[in-house]
Amino acid sequence: MTLSPTARFAGLVIATLAVSACGEASGPEAPKAPPPAPLTAEQIGVAIAALPAPYNEADYDNGRRAFARCRACHTITPGGPNMTGPNLYGLFGRAAGRHEGYNYSKALQAADFTWDAERLDQWLANPRTFLPGNKMSFAGVPDDQDRRDLIAWLKLETSPR
Ligand code: HEC
Repeated sequence: MTLSPTARFAGLVIATLAVSACGEASGPEAPKAPPPAPLTAEQIGVAIAALPAPYNEADYDNGRRAFARCRACHTITPGGPNMTGPNLYGLFGRAAGRHEGYNYSKALQAADFTWDAERLDQWLANPRTFLPGNKMSFAGVPDDQDRRDLIAWLKLETSPR
């Protein structure tokens, strides 16, 4: 079915009103939530310090810069689109290869683990050897400190607030 832009806009407005009327946006049918407000420097300091070692020593700004290597293929906002790679919102604690609406390789479809810092560290150090047959054509992040910072940054940015 194709709708005119006006009809689509009207639908969006109605959906948005319906959601604000009942006060919660949940479930796959809910319209996209706006990106969460950026964390303040104080919130970042508190959140990083609360992470388990070695992530409690992470450099958040370096983590953000390191994510520049991922941005071409991944979004991180709630309900953000899948691109070449799947949307990464809610990544921590999510079963590997299970983000709705993304067409994973057989390797990730068959994966039987949940993403945590340790798995991400191994995946990002060398995606090819961590899970042979996956289709993420990315060489990896070889520097230990960059990976630490990136994982801490991802944890803060992709976790529900
Ligand atoms: C060239 C595009 C590309 C780049 C760059 C890239 N990825 Fe990916 N990523 C993918 C693809 C494609 C997949 C799906 C792989 C599959 O199905 O085998 C994926 C999968 C993933 C997954 C698994 C998600 C899930 O739902 O199981 C994670 C985590 C991930 N990427 C993180 C990253 C991070 C962090 C970076 C940057 C350091 C990065 N990727 C860089 C394309 C990319």
